[in-house]
Amino acid sequence: MKKHNSYKIGVIGGAGYVGLVTSVGLASLGHNVLSQDLNLNRINLLKKGKSEVYEEGLENILSDLIFQKFINFTDNIEETIRHSDVVFVAVGTPSLSDGRADMSQIISVAEKLRDLIDHYTIVVVKSTVPVGAIEVIQDILSEKLSIGEDFDVVSNPEFLREGSGLIDFYNPSRIIIGCNSEFSGSVLREIYKPLLDREFKVRNPFSNKNQIIEILLTDPVSAQMVKYASNAFLASRISFINEIAGISEKVGGNISDIIYGIGLDPRIGSDYLKPGIGFGGPCLDKDLRALITLSEENYFDSVMLNGVLRRNDLQLQEVINKINIVLGSSLYKHRISILGLAFKEGTNDVRHSLSIRLAKFLIEQGAIVTGHDILATNEAALMEDKLIVSENLNDVLNQAEIVIILNSEKIYSEINWSNISPKTYVIDTRGIVNISELEKHSIKYDVLGTK
Ligand code: UGA
Repeated sequence: MKKHNSYKIGVIGGAGYVGLVTSVGLASLGHNVLSQDLNLNRINLLKKGKSEVYEEGLENILSDLIFQKFINFTDNIEETIRHSDVVFVAVGTPSLSDGRADMSQIISVAEKLRDLIDHYTIVVVKSTVPVGAIEVIQDILSEKLSIGEDFDVVSNPEFLREGSGLIDFYNPSRIIIGCNSEFSGSVLREIYKPLLDREFKVRNPFSNKNQIIEILLTDPVSAQMVKYASNAFLASRISFINEIAGISEKVGGNISDIIYGIGLDPRIGSDYLKPGIGFGGPCLDKDLRALITLSEENYFDSVMLNGVLRRNDLQLQEVINKINIVLGSSLYKHRISILGLAFKEGTNDVRHSLSIRLAKFLIEQGAIVTGHDILATNEAALMEDKLIVSENLNDVLNQAEIVIILNSEKIYSEINWSNISPKTYVIDTRGIVNISELEKHSIKYDVLGTK
């Protein structure tokens, strides 16, 4: 394979969140992308330019790319591997019950690659796989193929946040390439090169013209550790601020002022320090557990990372305690409304949503739980059939004895409380509610982290 501007790229697991954003992103950089997934339903929708995964702007770009024939979708893995100079692997690595990542999908893809590669192919692992997995993949491929001649394996972790995946793709804080061969590293650099190009940035509405994009070439283990350490660090910021919020509440502090105050130190900054019910979603918890398991397997006691996880596991109870203070210990037939059902704002993803976990717990206690979300009502309803979901915010507010705000969607900070019964009690875990409005309408409230 020679270095050039446009590559034939295959994406395996292309209908999942990471796979889809990667497929669309790479196609828009001018590469010819064939995106494969076993989920035929999603593939058929994607062929028509429709995505089950919500990401702002994605469907528009997708339709253009399909029309211009930069991207196509298939459920056929053989066709994808044969088509490609470079195969990105973005299949899932869910947590097993013991905290390790489930490698079965990765292994099955590696076996397919071993059996089907018929020309030099670079295999790029996007999925967050345990350290050591790159060697496992290499070993599987080496059963029939020669490393360096028939294939190379590269680790290229992703740092996309759900809800701003396209912005993150076009403006990455860094591109990490973990490779053992200079050639494969240079091809990966070439693939991402348009992102650094001034003309591309000017043309692309998602690009921030001033963003400096660093590309780090390193070994595969270090590349994977960058990914795990980044997510563990982000998780530790959340557990840290949740713990400070708990202490602040006990001693009579105001968490918003505290965050502002500590954030003024440029070494700390105030980003990613929002307290709440803890970190949910498909990544932080899973990756943190995998890192802890990795350290245990290597006889290293990760005291701090265990603490981060423990605080997160306790955090939901803080909200339940607040509910019990208002309603007493029996929640039977009490009406509780939850605002924000996805695992965070700006997405329809309810996987590992702590809002859903809270709803299930309250329902088990006999409470009547109504939930609101801008994007995830259908998805949430599928997770818990006794959860009453509604897109009508006023309905949800009017039915409740307690309203709990769980994500920072703007509409929740702009609620008009004038029509809501003063008997309603508001628990705001995000510190976004308009307190003077609540007080004006004699509505009682509790803001997490603030006395
Ligand atoms: C996270 C990382 O932020 C991405 O960099 C990474 O690529 C991704 O995981 C991944 O490994 O795939 P994501 O899970 O989409 O991204 O969402 P975040 O915005 O990080 O939020 C995770 C959880 O933390 C959510 O439940 C959110 O509500 C919570 N959170 C976040 C807080 O409670 N406070 C904050 O200040 C920020």
